[in-house]
Amino acid sequence: MTAGSLARDVFSTRFQNPILLAAGTAGFGHELAGVMDLDGLGGLVTKAVSLLPREGNPAPRVAEFAGGMLNSVGLANPGLQKVRQLLPPLLRRLSRARILVNVVGFTEREYAEVIAGLEEVEGITAYELNLSCPNTSAGGVEFGADPDSVRRVIQDCRRATRRPLVAKLSPALPDLAGIAVAAVSAGADGISAVNTMPGFLSAGDRPRLGNGNGGVSGPALLPIGVQAVRRVRERLPDTPVIGVGGVRSAEDVRQYLAAGASLVAIGTAQLADPRLPARIIRELETRDG
Ligand SMILES: Cc1cc2nc3c(=O)[nH]c(=O)nc-3n(C[C@H](O)[C@H](O)[C@H](O)COP(=O)(O)O)c2cc1C
Repeated sequence: MTAGSLARDVFSTRFQNPILLAAGTAGFGHELAGVMDLDGLGGLVTKAVSLLPREGNPAPRVAEFAGGMLNSVGLANPGLQKVRQLLPPLLRRLSRARILVNVVGFTEREYAEVIAGLEEVEGITAYELNLSCPNTSAGGVEFGADPDSVRRVIQDCRRATRRPLVAKLSPALPDLAGIAVAAVSAGADGISAVNTMPGFLSAGDRPRLGNGNGGVSGPALLPIGVQAVRRVRERLPDTPVIGVGGVRSAEDVRQYLAAGASLVAIGTAQLADPRLPARIIRELETRDG
């Protein structure tokens, strides 16, 4: 059992192991650098980056329940210009872990504009496009729900970069695998499945989240995410898939790998326990390596 045998080539890049931190749960890595060895990870997906800074939704932004967590952070982020300054110190600090930048837009063009603004930042491995955002010019329907919109977003992004593009999809899509096919035919290099599942919880007569609606993450998502990965791989056997949703253990990671994921991202569970990803990697190395 040799350490390092978990290594794999995905998106023409060497990942020392399959474990990533999921978008939005590790910020831009700076806060976590003191509590975990980021460079021991396969990689980190940054928080969403939008063209302009976003304050996000009113508090409370997270609510726990027995199956995990409901959140409505509202894609709070400092915006493209500031992120261009935040990324280089993180990228300099890491020599082995890969950085994927999560990109959001509220119009179809915005995704490509964000990417164009990040192109001169060296060392970004791939862009993960969060297609669960509301398209403000189409009445707030999420981009990912409309195959034509998905194609246009990806084609625009494809023109803006030669870096790998990963389309991240919502588990609420009636035909997630069909949308994945549309994304890849438009030029995406990979699929991330899944984002959070829409949900709502109240306490008495008030919503538990300041925004009312939110997204479900954590253990309740595990079988949903694993099934989504299987479905995407059935339709797209040669396309790398990042499995995400509900991972809390090495066994959960194996579920995603068995379903055909090339990489596996951990979100909610490492918010509660930042040392969990390192423990999972160690266990995978000793048992599966
Ligand atoms: C607090 C929080 C913030 C998130 N922010 C983003 C984001 O900015 N972009 C994105 O694509 N997904 C975002 N997600 C979704 C996660 O990346 C992941 O897909 C989801 O939480 C399922 O994984 P988990 O069950 O391991 O948390 C966020 C999730 C949480 C809990």
